Amino acid sequence: MEKIALEDRIFNPPADITEQANAKAGIYELAKKDRLGFWDAQAKELVTWFKPYDKVLEDSNAPFFKWFINGKLNVSYNCVDRHAKSNRHNKAAIMYESEIGKKVCLTYGMLSREVNKFANALAGLGVKKGDRVALYMPMIPEAVVAMLACTRIGAPHSLVFGGFSPESLRDRINDCGAKVLITADGNFRRGNPFPLKQNGDKALEDTPTIEKCVVVKNAGNDVAWVEGRDVWYHDVMAAAGNYYEPEAMDSEDVLFILYTSGTTGKPKGVVHSTGGYLVQIQSTLKYVFDIKDEDVYWCTADIGWITGHSYVVYAPLALGATLFMYDGTIDYPDKDRMWDMAERYGVSKFYTAPTAIRTFMKWGTEYPKKHDLSAIKVLGSVGEPINPEAWMWYYEHIGGSKAPIMDTWWQTETGAFMITPLPGITPLKPGTATNPFPGIEVDIIDENGNSADVGYLVIKSAWPAMIRTIFGDPDRYVDQYWKRFGKYYFAGDGAKRDNMGYIWVTGRVDDVLNVSGHRLGTAEVESALVECPEVAESAVIGKKHDIKGESVCAFVILKEGFKGSQELIDKLRKHVGVKIGPIARPDDIIFTAELPKTRSGKIMRRLLRDIAEGRAIGDATTLADPGAMKDIAAQYAGKED
Ligand code: WT7
Repeated sequence: MEKIALEDRIFNPPADITEQANAKAGIYELAKKDRLGFWDAQAKELVTWFKPYDKVLEDSNAPFFKWFINGKLNVSYNCVDRHAKSNRHNKAAIMYESEIGKKVCLTYGMLSREVNKFANALAGLGVKKGDRVALYMPMIPEAVVAMLACTRIGAPHSLVFGGFSPESLRDRINDCGAKVLITADGNFRRGNPFPLKQNGDKALEDTPTIEKCVVVKNAGNDVAWVEGRDVWYHDVMAAAGNYYEPEAMDSEDVLFILYTSGTTGKPKGVVHSTGGYLVQIQSTLKYVFDIKDEDVYWCTADIGWITGHSYVVYAPLALGATLFMYDGTIDYPDKDRMWDMAERYGVSKFYTAPTAIRTFMKWGTEYPKKHDLSAIKVLGSVGEPINPEAWMWYYEHIGGSKAPIMDTWWQTETGAFMITPLPGITPLKPGTATNPFPGIEVDIIDENGNSADVGYLVIKSAWPAMIRTIFGDPDRYVDQYWKRFGKYYFAGDGAKRDNMGYIWVTGRVDDVLNVSGHRLGTAEVESALVECPEVAESAVIGKKHDIKGESVCAFVILKEGFKGSQELIDKLRKHVGVKIGPIARPDDIIFTAELPKTRSGKIMRRLLRDIAEGRAIGDATTLADPGAMKDIAAQYAGKED
């Protein structure tokens, strides 16, 4: 019998899910017949509007699209008030556990009080509609309260992942001119407190717009204090009133800014707006994770990334679901920590990243086997293409060969799922995100913009949760996403289509790395490296990595008079860590005398990847100095000895 390759095996939707799923057969046809009608119906069903919108989509000023024109709403009202006022009042909104075992459960009624109080506290500190608020927070319930309080006031938040360095935090605060920083004293990492506030203090040495810093007491570690600037969260909460009238925001008002890496050294402040975002995140979560009232939903992403915004916080709460959140390392105190919690909390929907799955896989099946995971009904994957082996392992050992895996393709810029299966409808194949979500139009095109089976992934028409602009730089928004293929949004990914019409995303085709599902610009790492006095030039590539997907690999040319050494490698690695954050630290640094460049001076990263991954060197015909490749390859080979 012929053996069927993993990626060609088909997993049909389980009958028990199909029978009662939120997404019914016919949903694709419905949306295809009337795309805007589909989004209109979603908006009416899923959002409580203070004032109805006049029109679904305004495209006269493309690519500056507008959705749900003149609609008025408030996100915190949709995420808490409407549930607190319903029979979900005493339903758990957030169940939380810290690494050291502290447990918190907030019902919708309790969450509503906290959000109102903190909105009052922020207003008392001078935060008004339109002001920007920066957050540098661990995965604690107070972070969710703070996000929602910002939306209640109409003050766009900008979250900066806690693993980013003080310099990265400073740059992001200054780019958006934030007025207040909300942070915590620290949080636990493998049993030791990580000094978040200390990093925040360093960042705030040079942030002229910051007036106040609100600090949550979380880890109990000692902190420095700037009188007049710093206030404790518990102090301002104790003094705050119980109700804050939610601001009626326009559908197109900015909800938040989230910085992400692009192809230059400067991160982009991706701007998301209110109405369209709230519609698409709810619609996608409801159908893709088949959210029901009795679910315990757990998305393991950090709130500092878009997944944390859309699918840890806003979508589950807007749907009135119960979410679980954990702040800590995945192997503390032991490698079964995640499964231990999944069992204890009865997690029924679980969403994580391929890099985590590969880590669990490496640790072995004995860890999930120790626990009863039978409550799990639907699994999800996000961040990078999932390799079929990891898919199968996830399917068998976490999902008990009965939970369909939703491989969701999307981006910081798309705000919500774009390509994804539906659990009761789509036959799955390991490794593909399958089809565009209903109401989403994507294509694969070649250099000339013609539809093709292999090529560039593009989005053909506007979608509700789409990026609206880059903060302070509308030209960069147009340039970055809409220049290359005219009226199509270019995602920066390559893709191919199979015989079932399924879309297989193959990875970035621009100068962006994907390390453990996190985005990193090669230019960011390169500019950190050339800051070092020893470095003349550098080229950074992503090298295939068993666990991380890609690892950072830097080719470095030293200035005259400097010699490569292990010491220098350590120094450069450390510098990148301090400058950007530990995730950006190169795994490999290779000293070289030359870099392969095209005649126009562009570094040929493809060739460097060939060297780093030990392949025969590919086509170098457009190289300015074809001899350079041999030298680099020889030096790299020397390094491997
Ligand atoms: C890039 C976006 C969306 C939240 C997490 C990352 C890659 C993401 C998948 C997937 C293949 C994926 C793409 C994309 N990516 N999900 N299911 N299959 N690739 O958000 O940092 O904005 O990165 O992640 O390359 O462009 P992000």
